[in-house]
Amino acid sequence: MSFPKNFLWGGAVAANQCEGAYNEDGKGLCTQDVTPHGIVGPRTEEPTPDNMKLIGIDFYHRYKEDVKLFAEMGFKVFRTSIAWSRIFPNGDEETPNEKGLQFYDDLFDECHKYGIEPLVTISHYETPLHLAKTYDGWVNRKMIGFYERYVRTIFARYGKKVKYWLTFNEINSVLHEPFLSGGIYTEKDKLSQQDLYQAVHHELVASALATKIGHEMIPDAKIGCMILSMPTYPLTPCPDDVIRTMESVHKNDFFGDVHVRGYYPGYMKRYFRENNIEIKFEPGDEEILKNTVDFVSFSYYMSICETADPAQAKGKGNLMGGVPNPYLEASEWGWQIDPQGLRYVLNYYWDRYQKPLFIVENGLGAVDKLVEKDGVMTVEDDYRIDYLQKHLLQVEEAARDGVDVMGYTSWGCIDLVSASTAELKKRYGYIYVDRNDDGTGTLNRYKKKSFYWYKDVIATNGESL
Ligand code: BG6
Repeated sequence: MSFPKNFLWGGAVAANQCEGAYNEDGKGLCTQDVTPHGIVGPRTEEPTPDNMKLIGIDFYHRYKEDVKLFAEMGFKVFRTSIAWSRIFPNGDEETPNEKGLQFYDDLFDECHKYGIEPLVTISHYETPLHLAKTYDGWVNRKMIGFYERYVRTIFARYGKKVKYWLTFNEINSVLHEPFLSGGIYTEKDKLSQQDLYQAVHHELVASALATKIGHEMIPDAKIGCMILSMPTYPLTPCPDDVIRTMESVHKNDFFGDVHVRGYYPGYMKRYFRENNIEIKFEPGDEEILKNTVDFVSFSYYMSICETADPAQAKGKGNLMGGVPNPYLEASEWGWQIDPQGLRYVLNYYWDRYQKPLFIVENGLGAVDKLVEKDGVMTVEDDYRIDYLQKHLLQVEEAARDGVDVMGYTSWGCIDLVSASTAELKKRYGYIYVDRNDDGTGTLNRYKKKSFYWYKDVIATNGESL
């Protein structure tokens, strides 16, 4: 047995990392427009020319060419997000921006032209800046109402074109990057645990509300949560390390648990009690949370270790670093590579949730070199093929374990701007985009070696791996 029949092969991007056109056709500013250095640098008051995201890879104007390339690879599904501030420029107005709505109509039509199913993230690290500045993002309960209006608008508009929806990208990352993930304007070191977890509560209620509304408005919709997954291993078999690992895993599982089970788990209530956190529930919240998801999606790039030993330093990693694993190698950006971790996490979620699983992000960020081969410009990215091949073989293993895996959309199927460092030289794509961090480049697209490799994988439903 190999990959399931009808496995959804494809690729993933997010609006703010590829579209550019940051102020065109009525789009309002979003949080990404003021973070020219991603999470590593300070945010600015206004958009500045060194912000690579303002132009991105100009997907807004070139999407037809790009979708055609995805179709050539044989994509069954294409994951992207809707930029909230294209639809509601400030986030709190009553009526949407028609030009923003039209853009996604055109994009989804283009996908369907080739039989590609869109998979849409409703909120992917691109909260309208006005909501961040005026309301402090998700700390404020009013955000639920703004999000609801946005969700109703896009469900009504795209209900016939989009079947797969994700409510929030990597919803658990708000614990680590409150501005990026939750549009929380208060500086991270000044944000209280009380406000942070109240913001989490608002997002969880909003997510369940979106699921409820989606099921009512689009009867055949499949609505999922999206978790940043990072399997966490105890650094040693010392029971202190094992318990510390369990507690740290709980902090992430909290998000999936509420989405799948529909209520707050006991371990979190204990954490709140012991840390003097009191989550304010409004009447009706408990009922809303019972609207559980149809599937669980997640990103997977790396695993980490955890220890009770405070002398162990944290390493680098996808928004939430952990203690490095002495058995693993790392990417050029210090993200440790652990293909088996993907089989592990698939089994872990399946055992815990018994819900279909969707890997909606996975990939290797690397520096690529454009070269000429037989008169054609390309990238010989064997390192990327190697990474993806090893990970996909583990997905296959998990399928053999009996895990229900719906699909796989590798991250940044076309090169785009990095979320953490806002660089373009950290490339993930099968398609090379000629744009450099100094702003030079033609924006031309070139097929990498991995383009043909992935095309084969899809055509053979994984047999070629
Ligand atoms: C995930 C995000 O955290 O990782 C993406 O959902 C992001 O938006 C991806 O791009 C890879 O991270 P980075 O920092 O290499 O772009």
